[in-house]
Amino acid sequence: MAGLFSARNGWRLGGAAVVLLTAVLLSGCEPVDPYPADLTYPARSDVIVVEAPKLEDVPADRPGQFTAIFAGLKTLDRLESEGKLNANTLPPELQDLPNLRLYKTIDPELLPAGAREALQKTLEKHFGRPSAPKVDLDDKAALEQLKLDDKTLAEGSKLYRRHCLHCHGLTGDGRGPTAPWVNPHPRDYRPGIYKFISVTEGRPTREDLSRTLHEGIEGTSMPSFKLLPEEHITAIISYVIHLSLRGQIEMEVLKYIDSNKTDVKAGDVVDYVGQIAPVFLKGWSDARANEIPVLEYPKEFNDKKVFEESVRNGHKIFINEGGVEGACIGCHKDYGRQNQFRYDVWGTMVRPANLTTGIYRGGRRPIDLYYRVHGGIPPSGMPKAPDTVAKNPKYIWDLVNFVQALPYPSMLPPDVRDRIYGDKK
Ligand code: HEC
Ligand code: HEC
Repeated sequence: MAGLFSARNGWRLGGAAVVLLTAVLLSGCEPVDPYPADLTYPARSDVIVVEAPKLEDVPADRPGQFTAIFAGLKTLDRLESEGKLNANTLPPELQDLPNLRLYKTIDPELLPAGAREALQKTLEKHFGRPSAPKVDLDDKAALEQLKLDDKTLAEGSKLYRRHCLHCHGLTGDGRGPTAPWVNPHPRDYRPGIYKFISVTEGRPTREDLSRTLHEGIEGTSMPSFKLLPEEHITAIISYVIHLSLRGQIEMEVLKYIDSNKTDVKAGDVVDYVGQIAPVFLKGWSDARANEIPVLEYPKEFNDKKVFEESVRNGHKIFINEGGVEGACIGCHKDYGRQNQFRYDVWGTMVRPANLTTGIYRGGRRPIDLYYRVHGGIPPSGMPKAPDTVAKNPKYIWDLVNFVQALPYPSMLPPDVRDRIYGDKK
């Protein structure tokens, strides 16, 4: 007993405490914990949605049901491959899940194991591991422009683990532990498809991703990361591109294996990756080639009368009256007040925005709305503006002016206000 309280022991215990405290403090100061060195990116096992159901006005998935739907699609593929799928009824555990049979999917795990192993090895060779990510491809200029060097990616990977992984998942599959509980679900980066872009098609620019990170996505669980140091945001963007590119190549090769089934040899996989990887990388580095042309905001809109006329004209285009049909009202029924969910390209649910709320996912600057109206939101099924509208960029601004005034009755010309709000004012 006495020994325990001796001066020597006291010092020893104290010393241990100091060591422990230092360790805790140090780990707190360390910006982010690194990944274990032996951790590899797991091979894709969830189904690839080749085509989502083409339906309108479907119920959205309930909280937590997201994982069940994708697990259900997998079960369906397995039963079909075993010839056990009944034409009329589904197994009881799948009956509660909506529209499963209307999806077209590929289950990677039903493809030949040899080809899949070759894919895993080739992906690791080009893209490394979470602790040491890389993009090992020849196009130096593209890698430099996209900031895909090893140092930036290693930093990005650590920051991603801390800030993004719980929603967007280890491989960027959008299936982190939080994902089933938030709707809309976090983006699956693996198809390389994004919603809020300043280009007519193809990959987003780094600036598009940067805007999303700075502003977050209003009205969804995607937070703003504005308070992070700019160099952290830069590194995270590089890492999102890395995950996206890796996911695109993985998905494309799995589709290729699926279309050739048993004949694909390890060498074919390596060759195919060699063929498509540089093309996909170029898709990212050339993103700006597809930039949406923007007519500078016409100064005459600063005149109150001219602005009012523009809002009035935007309304007409929106509801297809007066010759130029925007066809907006067909989806944004009652200006979006109606809740009509449909499927997006990822096979999850989306609804035409309620434009009376003033909540914009892709940003509220006039230019953000210009991009949305001109380019549409293709993965959500919102088409780009019809040619009759797009050929005159002033019409796009008319629509933007209208959309911006719409949530605020007092900003609308009285005749337009009456049509939209009637006695609801
Ligand atoms: C709490 C969950 C959550 C966290 C944390 C989160 N996100 Fe998201 N993120 C979302 C959701 C939800 C969406 C999809 C919104 C939609 O589809 O409208 C999204 C979408 C995105 C998009 C796609 C934008 C587009 O144009 O399609 C990017 C890029 C993105 N997040 C990056 C990140 C990065 C990088 C981090 C970490 C720094 C992060 N997110 C952290 C939930 C989250
Ligand atoms: C085929 C259906 C469809 C048509 C036609 C359509 N939209 Fe949309 N729109 C949508 C969907 C779906 C969304 C929600 C996308 C999302 O959040 O992923 C949306 C969202 C929007 C948004 C919100 C953007 C944001 O940042 O949140 C605006 C603004 C918009 N639409 C304007 C228009 C205008 C103007 C037109 C006509 C030129 C139009 N839409 C035509 C389906 C459509």
